[in-house]
Amino acid sequence: MNNFQYHNPTRILFGKGEIASITSLIPPSSKVMMVYGGGSIFKNGVYEQTKKALKGFDVIEFGGIEANPRYETCMRAVEQIKTQNVTFLLAVGGGSVLDGTKFMALATKYTGADPWDFMLGKTATPNSALPLASIMTLPATGSEMNANFVISRDSTQEKFGGYSDLIRPQFSVIDPMTTTTLPIRQTANGVVDSFVHTMEQYATFPNNGPLQDRQAEAVLATLVEEGPKAMQAPEDYDVRANLCWCSTQALNGVISCGMPQDWSTHDIGHELTALYGIDHARTLAIVLPGVWRFFINEKKEKLAQYGKRVLGLNGSVEECASQAIQKTEEFFESLGIPTHLKDYGINASDAARMVSDRFKSRNRPGFGERGLITPEVIYKIIESRA
Ligand code: NZQ
Ligand code: ZN
Repeated sequence: MNNFQYHNPTRILFGKGEIASITSLIPPSSKVMMVYGGGSIFKNGVYEQTKKALKGFDVIEFGGIEANPRYETCMRAVEQIKTQNVTFLLAVGGGSVLDGTKFMALATKYTGADPWDFMLGKTATPNSALPLASIMTLPATGSEMNANFVISRDSTQEKFGGYSDLIRPQFSVIDPMTTTTLPIRQTANGVVDSFVHTMEQYATFPNNGPLQDRQAEAVLATLVEEGPKAMQAPEDYDVRANLCWCSTQALNGVISCGMPQDWSTHDIGHELTALYGIDHARTLAIVLPGVWRFFINEKKEKLAQYGKRVLGLNGSVEECASQAIQKTEEFFESLGIPTHLKDYGINASDAARMVSDRFKSRNRPGFGERGLITPEVIYKIIESRA
């Protein structure tokens, strides 16, 4: 097991009616900006509950954060934060709203010319940020209890992730009731995103982390059991609660303590969203089986372990690894998520060329758990997903 540090200060308020609890957690003299998306919170009672909990606070609202939050929109919010002297940011919605809010918290404090430079790694990420918290209405990203954010820039068709311990939410409300209004597509996306987050930290190579392995397998097995139930019975509170807690656990850093990590499926998938606008989770369902088949020899022990322990497969390491990939693809398809580029009307050779050229132009060293993902490998992986 590798050395690690783990510190996660986010308070989780989990369960029905917990939005009301935020009143005592925001500093009383705060000027609050309530940030939300395209309007889902007006349809499921979340807006009213939040406004009620914020009674007595000085609150302004900023709506219209897009799925795959745009830099351009976030920068408009930053202007308002500065001119109106906002001191606390409250994100209310899905991962996009929260990621946009995390970026705003840092961009407000940025002293350089253009905050996009820190997303590109050209300048350092700011060393201070506005405090923030979230009311999370979509179990998928784990953003409610992590230090990551992913921002897209329209003008350059780019999508990049950032990381800063300064933007971990002070608290996050997870009320599973709020997720019962999710469209089936977003429910399925959430299951697949959480599943792939777990796999990015698990499907690498054995590293003497039997506890972390079993923690990850517990998340995977629960998603495989509960995901289909949510598709059948969207209003089942218990199923929703289990999916919510899975997605938080999948990406709050616990399962990756001391373990190697991959993240190549995400990095390649972000390019497919940036170029073609495919939902984040759907890009993962396309790319993951390609990464696994390409690196089956390097990943076979963990894939076979997953196959045996989570999917109940029997056979040799090679047989179980290969079947595990096939079964995972079938799992994604069973949730209504197509796993091939042709299903999205995309020519695989064109996509392979465009995405691998982008990585070539960035001169990024090989990545993935063994540093083996190069532009040439990316080309082959995407081409294999025709
Ligand atoms: O915008 P509104 O009207 O709120 O509607 C949203 C949006 O259309 C809707 N929605 C959210 N909660 C709802 C609801 N509709 C009905 N009932 C509810 N309770 O769902 C749509 C999608 O929302 P979005 O926030 O975009 O989805 P998600 O939470 O999957 O976030 C995706 C973004 O997160 C990034 C992705 O790259 C993508 O940009 N990620 C962030 C990560 C992180 N911070 O750690 C990790 C992930 O790998 C991921 O990359
Ligand atoms: Zn993801």
